[in-house]
Amino acid sequence: MSLAPVLARIDADLDNAIERLCNFLRIPSISTDPIFAEDCQKAADWLVADLTTLGAEASKRQTPGHPMVVGHITPLYSDQKPHLLFYGHYDVQPVDPLDLWNRDPFDPAVEETDNGKVIRARGACDDKGQLMTFIEACRSWIAEHGELPCKITFFFEGEEESGSPSLIPFMKENKDEITADIALICDTGLFDSRVPAITTMLRGLLGDEITITGPNKDLHSGLYGGVSMNPIRVLSRILASLHDENGRVTIPSFYDGVPELSDTLKEQWAALEFDHDAFLGGVGLSALAGERGYSALEMLWSQPTCEINGIKGGYAGDGFKTVLPSQASAKISFRLVGHQDPEAIRKNLRRMIEGMLPVDCSVSYNAHGSSGGIVMSTEAPAFEAARIALSDEWPDEAAFIGSGGSIPIAGFFQEITGVDPILIGFGKDDDQLHSPNEKYDLESFHKGTRSWARVLDALSRLEV
Ligand code: BES
Ligand code: MN
Ligand code: MN
Repeated sequence: MSLAPVLARIDADLDNAIERLCNFLRIPSISTDPIFAEDCQKAADWLVADLTTLGAEASKRQTPGHPMVVGHITPLYSDQKPHLLFYGHYDVQPVDPLDLWNRDPFDPAVEETDNGKVIRARGACDDKGQLMTFIEACRSWIAEHGELPCKITFFFEGEEESGSPSLIPFMKENKDEITADIALICDTGLFDSRVPAITTMLRGLLGDEITITGPNKDLHSGLYGGVSMNPIRVLSRILASLHDENGRVTIPSFYDGVPELSDTLKEQWAALEFDHDAFLGGVGLSALAGERGYSALEMLWSQPTCEINGIKGGYAGDGFKTVLPSQASAKISFRLVGHQDPEAIRKNLRRMIEGMLPVDCSVSYNAHGSSGGIVMSTEAPAFEAARIALSDEWPDEAAFIGSGGSIPIAGFFQEITGVDPILIGFGKDDDQLHSPNEKYDLESFHKGTRSWARVLDALSRLEV
């Protein structure tokens, strides 16, 4: 089965593909907010229907949370070929603050910008646009050749943006169905607009919410101020002590399990000539804020972080209120690398906080999910085959890169099915994932689809 006519068909069908993506983007499948639970069902139904038009045997699988979608396409005579599994997520992040959007986040449109055409909507990149690049490649392949070049299993999740609570049980219960020779994930980015990438290192994620309680009710800050401990004061002191003056995290034993970066990797990353001035400049910044002594890529890809994601307490509305609050809280998250142990870090953080609590103050916690950092072994021939296929589509050669973000399923594939997934994605740094005005470049969508056709071609030729 030849590749060239498949690529031509992808080009010819682009407008229809955009329309299909826009239909998918109109469904507000926000997984974190229970109000949108029905919409998550609808997005799953939409995928089942779309996979069915490809001839897949596809179904929606209920879980205690939002449903999974699993589909299989098994061409005749495919048992001599590798079996591929593709993962993506149909859920999206909440849209707030809504007033910062230049359009309704669920009314997608192609917009003309200074940097070319973009598809604007929540989920345009993360991850509806990205997962559709794979489906569209399959669609053109089938339309051209009547069947796929190998067996493909589709596996879509609707809880990725809310910590994937149902994923591990589902994967364990359906292990045979989701085990394949090669697993593919489309939920990451390009290195830059010329250099495509396979992401082989991802950071893990740990979250904890801490609430400090002082007085048993909000107080008048004049009548009680000076004699009563203010929990915001306590919280600020704790938060300020989480980093030292060099940007290093101060939690005891935090760096246990952080690997020393090899010279080879350091050189490879330096050779990518990452423009950190442009990267920071794009968001109005100029200076690196991580631990001194590391390059920007080292900070992003190989160093752990501790970030405060939100603070609550007292009166923050319009005007002024002289209140001495009863409670103050903060959401803290950590990006983890190497063999850092998430639960050990949670314990040490809590112990450190408890050591800083003055008399009369107490602390309570709300634990959020945890996953460790992951490194994919790139030894399997599929990695090199995919890298060459990507290089054929883009101006410059594809790179193996790290990423600062987290995709917990990548580690679960390793643990549960024993397969190191190949992470290929076409997002750009300015796609505004999780932010207002999320977009996906039309070029990402189009060349992304073409890239998958090439990767399918290359992988289906591998021996099993
Ligand atoms: N697709 C992103 C992660 C990502 C984006 C990785 C770009 C590499 C490049 C994913 O949907 C995501 O947002 N992950 C969350 C974790 C999740 C548990 C909420 C993250 O990284 O914060
Ligand atoms: Mn994603
Ligand atoms: Mn995301």
